[in-house]
Amino acid sequence: MQLSPISAALQATLLEAYSQGTALILGGSLIARFTQRGESDADEQRARRKLELGLMCFHVLLLPITGVCVSLGAGFARDLRLAGSIAGALAGVLIYGQILFESVFPRLFIRIARILQDVIIALVAVMAVFITASRVGIDLTGIVATGAVLTGVIGLALQDLLGNVFGGLSLQLDHTIRVGDWIRVQDVIGRVVEIRWRSTSIETRAWEMVIIPNSLLTRSQVMVLGRRQSPLREASRWRRQLEFQVDFRYPPNQVIDCVQSALRSHPIEHVAAVPSPQCVLLSFMDDNAGKYGVRYWLMDIAQEAAVDSVVLTRIFYALKRADIPLSMPAYSVFMTEESHERKAHKLERDQERRIEALANIDLFRALSDEERSELARGLTPAPFARGEVLTRAGAEGHHLYVITSGTVSVRADDGVTQEELAQLGAGEFFGEMSLLTGAPRSATIVALTDVECYRLDAEVFQRLLARREDLAERVAQALRERRTALQSYRPAGQPRTISPELSQGDLLNRIRGFFGI
Ligand code: CMP
Repeated sequence: MQLSPISAALQATLLEAYSQGTALILGGSLIARFTQRGESDADEQRARRKLELGLMCFHVLLLPITGVCVSLGAGFARDLRLAGSIAGALAGVLIYGQILFESVFPRLFIRIARILQDVIIALVAVMAVFITASRVGIDLTGIVATGAVLTGVIGLALQDLLGNVFGGLSLQLDHTIRVGDWIRVQDVIGRVVEIRWRSTSIETRAWEMVIIPNSLLTRSQVMVLGRRQSPLREASRWRRQLEFQVDFRYPPNQVIDCVQSALRSHPIEHVAAVPSPQCVLLSFMDDNAGKYGVRYWLMDIAQEAAVDSVVLTRIFYALKRADIPLSMPAYSVFMTEESHERKAHKLERDQERRIEALANIDLFRALSDEERSELARGLTPAPFARGEVLTRAGAEGHHLYVITSGTVSVRADDGVTQEELAQLGAGEFFGEMSLLTGAPRSATIVALTDVECYRLDAEVFQRLLARREDLAERVAQALRERRTALQSYRPAGQPRTISPELSQGDLLNRIRGFFGI
């Protein structure tokens, strides 16, 4: 039966498509489209997709031409078929590579470095070209010999480029550095965001993108921050060291204990609990001062400066509370001679400041000048940084606290959960319960802002209340109200473990005991 020319051309095209595996290529392309994960935005990936599409179009367009030429017995039909088949094979390799590396492996949680993906795809593509050519009846091995010479010549000319490419390859293959690592190269510190064929991109904390040629990375010293080679595969942590100076009037152990307990007593965001922050005496600066180092382990390297600041603030407040001044530079230490008058003057100023603070405290407003002055002598300044715990439920109480600025949160605390009962601010006091009843602290007090307050010795407080009945009544009244609020707190399904309830009679007895009556 004689076929019409169109049917014959169609038949020849279909035959060509069958022999060149076009269905596989088109099918793969469809699968790749449907299984693609999200929007891929990398320029290289987009370029690869364009290449895939170009090769596929070229392959499909050549099919009818090749089919017709073959059926007409044209001499160049074999070359056309070779060109079409190679385009198809390359498109197929790219498409199936994409399915494998971008859909299948990520779903199986297998991560293969980009450069390695490219190398595998390139090798398979070369093999595919050879196989395709030999199927068409063309031997390409001759090209390889000429190619080797050519590669040598090109290699010499492109030494730098190849250095970078192999640098990139080795970085990826031996995992010297990985995407996400924080590294220091020469003066640059940043996070590795991409390792490409020729260069590695590093993002600094200042939002700068530094592009470092791979050959430089393999040749120079690279410090990977916060990563430790250990069988335990520990999380990344970077040890930071901050320094400060304190003069030798204050024994090193006292300084170290004070700073360490302030840093360890409650967690600081982004600072590792283990190993815990440490304070060490680093060296003797001169006859007068010791240089101390605080070491802590930072868990988010991007937060370096902010966390340094929080840690330094903690140190500052802890030392201030312990009345340990930071050492001044030597040139100003000796400029003013410490005389008796100066000292007296300083004490007087401190006393004035305390009296002024007392005048603003509601509880003490009714005191006479003399009483206020006596009370002021029993006050010790106690500043706290935001987030610090001023007293903890269950601890022994030795002081009454009066707040002069800032806000604290009073929290019922059963050791597992905390619940806010009240907030206290400037002019208010807390800590009276333990002093009056001798019971452990009934609540945990946390600074919501930086807080300035004074601690009042139990003894001075006792003397004052014994003399001023009106004051004693106000404190007892506050105590009763606060106790009621405390007693209404019950942790879900748990009996109270801290501060057992006292009957009204017990309470009175304890308060009487406090006043010695
Ligand atoms: P004390 O038990 O010595 O230590 C914790 C302090 O928190 C407590 O004294 C009171 O001063 C204070 N406190 C306890 N409950 C309340 C409350 N409901 N409202 C305000 N302050 C409270």
